[in-house]
Amino acid sequence: MSKERAQSFEWKVMHESTPGRSAPAQKLRLGVLISGSGTNLQAIIDAIEDGRLSGVEIALVISNSAQATGIQRALKHRLPVIYLPWRTFPVGAFLSEMTPNEAQVTALLQLFRVDLVVLAGWMRILSAPFLERLTERVINIHPALLPREGAGDTYTLSNGEQIPVFRGMHAAQMALDAGVSITGSSVHYVTPIVDAGPVICQREVAIEPGDTEDSLQERLKLVEHELIVEAIRRFC
Ligand code: GRF
Repeated sequence: MSKERAQSFEWKVMHESTPGRSAPAQKLRLGVLISGSGTNLQAIIDAIEDGRLSGVEIALVISNSAQATGIQRALKHRLPVIYLPWRTFPVGAFLSEMTPNEAQVTALLQLFRVDLVVLAGWMRILSAPFLERLTERVINIHPALLPREGAGDTYTLSNGEQIPVFRGMHAAQMALDAGVSITGSSVHYVTPIVDAGPVICQREVAIEPGDTEDSLQERLKLVEHELIVEAIRRFC
């Protein structure tokens, strides 16, 4: 292919097949999308290696950041890992079709025969046209307590107290700013409305005196490392 043609090449999804479990006897194949430190990716790797997720394998890791430490974790465990520079577009530019990057991810998920997509610290919003092909096949870890059915602005704690729902980035800081004494983490299905899909599993985490965003986030992550394994096991 000439250099000019290669530069003008565009990714397009040419057929409608969606990722799905090919045969029940085979292992559940994960596509793990990361943007940062990848400690949740590591938790999945550890659970596979020590037998807690024996029916699971990581088919592919995708990072939108070349600096993501998670890339090194994947390489250390000899997992296929792809760095995909992510282009952002003006709001509304891609309402009825997926973005070029999402078309690339869709093609990669098909190529690597991914059954379940795990957003493990993935910091990019995915569009409705992309997610519609993957209904109940994309899960995310969010560092706050989300309503069980997804929608709603309040969460009822186990002690009966109602707290606001913290969506989006800096959810740990939002919990600190709101002055709540308990927050938590949730693993949920990803739907086009950010952080509003039905919850698969979640756990409360107490906020301690003197907590900062970093200290709270680190304690939340310890819980997430168990929750993500628990959530994936439900697909096996
Ligand atoms: C986690 O706290 C998760 O809740 C949030 O991003 C963080 C990712 O951490 N979505 P890591 O990259 O897995 O260490």
